[in-house]
Amino acid sequence: MPLAILTTTVSLFHSFQLNPHRPFIASHQKAHLETTKPSVRITSLGSLSLTSNNNNAQFSHSTRPLRIFSRSGELERDPGHSPAMTSATANGSQYKFLIYGRTGWIGGLLGQLCAGQGIPYQYGSGRLEDRPSLEADLAAVKPTHVFNAAGVTGRPNVDWCETHRVETIRANVVGTLTLADVCRAKGLVLVNYATGCIFEYDEKHPEGSGIGFKEEDTPNFIGSFYSKTKAMVEDLLKNYENVCTLRVRMPISSDLSNPRNFITKIARYEKVVNIPNSMTILDELLPISIEMAKRNLTGIYNFTNPGVVSHNEILEMYRDYIDPSFTWKNFNLEEQAKVIVAPRSNNELDTTKLKNEFPELMPIKESLIKYVFEPNKKTSSA
Ligand SMILES: NC(=O)c1ccc[n+]([C@@H]2O[C@H](COP(=O)([O-])OP(=O)(O)OC[C@H]3O[C@@H](n4cnc5c(N)ncnc54)[C@H](OP(=O)(O)O)[C@@H]3O)[C@@H](O)[C@H]2O)c1
Repeated sequence: MPLAILTTTVSLFHSFQLNPHRPFIASHQKAHLETTKPSVRITSLGSLSLTSNNNNAQFSHSTRPLRIFSRSGELERDPGHSPAMTSATANGSQYKFLIYGRTGWIGGLLGQLCAGQGIPYQYGSGRLEDRPSLEADLAAVKPTHVFNAAGVTGRPNVDWCETHRVETIRANVVGTLTLADVCRAKGLVLVNYATGCIFEYDEKHPEGSGIGFKEEDTPNFIGSFYSKTKAMVEDLLKNYENVCTLRVRMPISSDLSNPRNFITKIARYEKVVNIPNSMTILDELLPISIEMAKRNLTGIYNFTNPGVVSHNEILEMYRDYIDPSFTWKNFNLEEQAKVIVAPRSNNELDTTKLKNEFPELMPIKESLIKYVFEPNKKTSSA
């Protein structure tokens, strides 16, 4: 691919000002930003293009990170990022990501994505609740951004958290807050993979109405200990201006052999409920979370595809694309309650905020077909 060069003199400071989401910029970064703003030009090695959305100057997804040059053509320190990026520029990137959750599903996928995009990254070796170990990671890695995909989710499922409450608090409450606090002290954005399972359909947001819960709505589901603690942490994290909280729900990936995949889970259950829900297609949304870090977006985001899909609709797609002989049985919530310990949340999240930032975001059913069922298609009829 030929080197595409955008020689437009772009004031990053100006574009940050235009963004209503007010990307987080630490005070020492602001000072540096103002001293460097007159002479910045942006060069891309990939398919970078500038797009305009709602009067926000935006970058569309680029296959490789931007590099920032002074008029003299020398690589400069990124005006929007911490001094830590010096080590990242050493191998040609303005980014260096520190990721927690190396052995986990989302953390593992994130590392693969960074490797694929040529973004330098390292996994944290510290435990979330152990502040000195996190500080040691930051000192050693010198990241530009931190991603938290660590926490306890329960094995085989969240019912585990009902009987392991202290362990759940230690990782998901004490740990997450400690990481946010350590990152704040270093002026670093923390992208935190949280959960949208803190809401349930109610009178103002009835099932099937298309009225989803918004980012500013107060959680109304505390049926499980896991969700209860996640809601508490989300509320406390609102006080950390460096944190980007992503409300993930019922994550799905194109890897149908993964037992954590929502599709794989429900295809293996003896009986399933049939309720429309907001869900997260990881193949589409994890790259978006990387882009959100690059834009220094903070605050809460409903991190699901627009719209809802029901259990039966997914299993019908599974039958049509993967296994024509597949059958399943439904049961209702009362019957489900007999085979699980804690109630589960069912809801629709309003994705307007995410869609405004990423207009290309696909509706859930289209994303399911594009990212999951088409690539795994085994039938000729679908
Ligand atoms: N999967 C879902 O259904 C789902 C849905 C919505 C939201 N989320 C959220 O997304 C995040 C990631 O989920 P996931 O499914 O990828 O989780 P996962 O597969 O269970 O992995 C969790 C990761 O966290 C690490 N971890 C646990 N406790 C830790 C601690 N105290 N300090 C450091 N690392 C720790 C684990 O490492 P060790 O093995 O070394 O402990 C593991 O790498 C979680 O916060 C989860 O709540 C997940």
